[in-house]
Amino acid sequence: MISKNMEAALNHQIALEGYASQYYLAMASWCDKEGMEGAAEFLHFQSLEEREHMLKLFHYLSEVDGFAITPAIEQPPIEFESVQEVFSLVYEHEKKVTQSINDLVATCYSENDYNTLNFLQWYVEEQREEENQARSILDKIKLIGEGGQSLYYIDKEMKKFLAAALAKEAAAADSEAQ
Ligand code: FEO
Repeated sequence: MISKNMEAALNHQIALEGYASQYYLAMASWCDKEGMEGAAEFLHFQSLEEREHMLKLFHYLSEVDGFAITPAIEQPPIEFESVQEVFSLVYEHEKKVTQSINDLVATCYSENDYNTLNFLQWYVEEQREEENQARSILDKIKLIGEGGQSLYYIDKEMKKFLAAALAKEAAAADSEAQ
C-alpha cells in the first residue's frame, strides 16, 4: 500500500516523463523537417524511452495498490532555432527530471517508503546516464560548430550516439533475460 502523498508524487513524475516523450517527439519531427535524419532517429528513440519510463511508473503504482493517472500533456514547442538549441533543451529537461527524481527519493526517506526507494534506484542511475549523454551530445555539437557542412558531421555523430544507446538497451535486455 502506498501513501496518497507518494502516489501523487509518482503521478507528477508520470506527467513529467510523458511530457518528455512528447517534447522529444516534437524535436524529432523538427530535425526530420530540417533534413537531420540521424538526430531525428535518435530523438524518436529517446521519445520511446521516455514513454517506457512513464509506463514503468504506471506498473509500479498498480503493483503497490496505487492509481496511475494518465496525464494531460500540454503542447510542446514544435519549432527550434538550431540543432544546438534542441540538445541544449534536452539537457535542461533531463536536469529537471533528475531534480524531480531526487525529490522523490527524499520523499521516500521522509515517509520510510523503502519499496519505492528501491524502485527508484533504477531511475537514479538512468538519469545519471541520460544527463551525461545529453551533455556529451551538446559538447560534440559545440565542438563541431554549426552551419553548412557541420550539420552533416553532427548528424553522423548522432547516428553513433543512437547506436551506442541501442547497444546499451540490448545489453540491459540480455542481463534481464539471464
Ligand atoms: Fe525519463 Fe530522460 O527522463
